[in-house]
Amino acid sequence: MKGVDYWLTEAANVDVDSLVDLFNDAYSQYYVPTVVTAERLINLVAREDISMRNSYIALFGRRPVGVVFLGIRGSRGYICGMGVRIAYQGRGVGELLMRRILKEAETLELDSLQLEVVDRNFRAIGLYAKLGFVPIRVLGVWERGRMPHRKGMGTCDLGDFDVRRVPSFHVLPLVDRFNEIRPCWQNEPTALAKFYSRLSACVARAGSGEAAYALYVDTDEGLYIVDVAASPSLHKGVRQGACEALLERIDLDVPRRMARAHNIPVQGYQGRALQSRGFDIELKQQEMVLCLR
Ligand SMILES: CC(C)(COP(=O)(O)OP(=O)(O)OC[C@H]1O[C@@H](n2cnc3c(N)ncnc32)[C@H](O)[C@@H]1OP(=O)(O)O)[C@@H](O)C(=O)NCCC(=O)NCCS
Repeated sequence: MKGVDYWLTEAANVDVDSLVDLFNDAYSQYYVPTVVTAERLINLVAREDISMRNSYIALFGRRPVGVVFLGIRGSRGYICGMGVRIAYQGRGVGELLMRRILKEAETLELDSLQLEVVDRNFRAIGLYAKLGFVPIRVLGVWERGRMPHRKGMGTCDLGDFDVRRVPSFHVLPLVDRFNEIRPCWQNEPTALAKFYSRLSACVARAGSGEAAYALYVDTDEGLYIVDVAASPSLHKGVRQGACEALLERIDLDVPRRMARAHNIPVQGYQGRALQSRGFDIELKQQEMVLCLR
């Protein structure tokens, strides 16, 4: 029987260096280069509300060979960091860990579990589908390696927006208001609030109200667009135009050739706005959900 030689312990019982070693082995042949350090792992746990008491490590003897992290926000759970050491893959460890998390979710009376998985990661998708997770939308990892040439490259209505820089905390209440589907786990306002002082923000105003916002960070590797969204009360083309106007303004303020944006939906006005500013999709992720009640 698969998975019988392994036993599980709470992630809180395992030291951070062993976790780092486990992650870097499990993700050593991943679709994007993924290397963690103790500092990165600690930041991830804080940012994504991971509960180490409700997360699990699979042990073979005393050796950690698999990991699954569970983030918890209210009655919603989030699976991340799911990985099994290369030499132990295909032996039932991943399924053992996931079934433990399903039990944990039941005990915690969670309503749902969600996750993101690279759309080419058929192994992981097979595992999640087997347990009842269903895909709900496709999120893009967007990248740009060149500056867009001219202003207003898109075909949408750029409108007449007053674009201005604002403190990032000013924008956080707009995140839930402007996204009809909750943004990805990393971009929920509660997560963004944790590092708001590192974020820059601007809003596009039309008349007296806010029409759109963008949150971004200028990093050593280039510009990072954290989120961009427009009010659902605007017409589709105008929503795209408002986002483009913001992205254009950011390019003027922070003229960086290299730019990235993570987990912005592929379908819809946000993706079209990114495309019109020279971004391409590098990687697609499926967002999957399991409803528990
Ligand atoms: C994805 C991963 C966690 C699966 O763990 P695992 O221990 O190898 O998987 P298991 O042996 O428990 O298999 C459970 C199910 O996964 C799927 N699966 C596993 N290996 C597979 C393969 N090579 N091809 C297709 N499906 C596969 C199957 O549905 C399988 O059920 P089955 O045995 O009834 O067919 C593991 O391969 C891994 O760590 N990969 C690298 C990191 C990663 O991709 N993490 C997921 C990020 S979202």
